[in-house]
Amino acid sequence: MDEQVALITGAAKRIGAVIAETLHQRGMNIVIHYHHSKLEAEKLCSKLNSKRANSATLIEGNLSQVNDCSTIIETAQRHWGRLDALINNASSFYPTQIGSIDENAWDDLLGSNLKGPIFLSQRAAPFLKQHHGNIINIVDIHADRPLKNHTVYCCAKAGLVMLTKSLARELSPEIRVNAIAPGAILWPNEGNDLPETAKTHILERTLLKRLGKPQDIADAILYMLNATYVTGQVLAIDGGRTIKD
Ligand SMILES: NC(=O)c1ccc[n+]([C@@H]2O[C@H](COP(=O)([O-])OP(=O)(O)OC[C@H]3O[C@@H](n4cnc5c(N)ncnc54)[C@H](OP(=O)(O)O)[C@@H]3O)[C@@H](O)[C@H]2O)c1
Repeated sequence: MDEQVALITGAAKRIGAVIAETLHQRGMNIVIHYHHSKLEAEKLCSKLNSKRANSATLIEGNLSQVNDCSTIIETAQRHWGRLDALINNASSFYPTQIGSIDENAWDDLLGSNLKGPIFLSQRAAPFLKQHHGNIINIVDIHADRPLKNHTVYCCAKAGLVMLTKSLARELSPEIRVNAIAPGAILWPNEGNDLPETAKTHILERTLLKRLGKPQDIADAILYMLNATYVTGQVLAIDGGRTIKD
């Protein structure tokens, strides 16, 4: 994977940052996209560059804005003159109870989870084609198993699963497009944290009786990048939660 370039959206922290570090360890050059987390993104970028000079760069952008999506891809491609992998990891996530859904929540949740990935993929496709590249979308086990009070988020992730399959057809044979569907990996960020009882309930519903780790998602991405006969697939990394009754 040496010399190859991966763009990871929402990579300043949490799962995205672990994906960035893992692909970097395998020799890839990394474009770290962030929106608000500038300091964390800069820290990660410096860390990667101190391990290998000129191996990481930063791009800011709001994925709800089509112009930002184009700029992100063009800037990413220009930095090392190529793009091999687009990892659509960025996401907003919060409840939207029926009766209180407004257009802002719709625009934000659909923007980060679906609109951004569509416009990033469209702009990246010509560059990815040149190197038999990959698009990997991070979806959610709740893309087809509704999470109560999260209708808008679930609809957006369901759309991202369809985007995965649709693009796999349209961009073949040069580009492979796959998705990873995490179960419970990291509890939601401050402000959306869950009560302990809810956490216990979720973990009891996994077969493996525990949370996953961000590294499990990064390892699944490595698998997908190397799985040269796999396209249009969704791989659940969920501790067996989706087959538990
Ligand atoms: N955590 C889990 O257990 C879990 C479970 C199921 C699925 N997933 C999926 O796995 C992926 C990573 O999860 P996570 O929990 O690590 O994600 P996260 O921390 O909730 O979000 C990742 C990043 O997305 C960026 N983002 C949000 N809205 C954006 C926008 N409009 N434009 C640009 N960037 C935006 C934010 O960047 P800034 O901070 O820079 O603003 C944020 O740091 C997500 O796709 C998530 O849906 C996670």
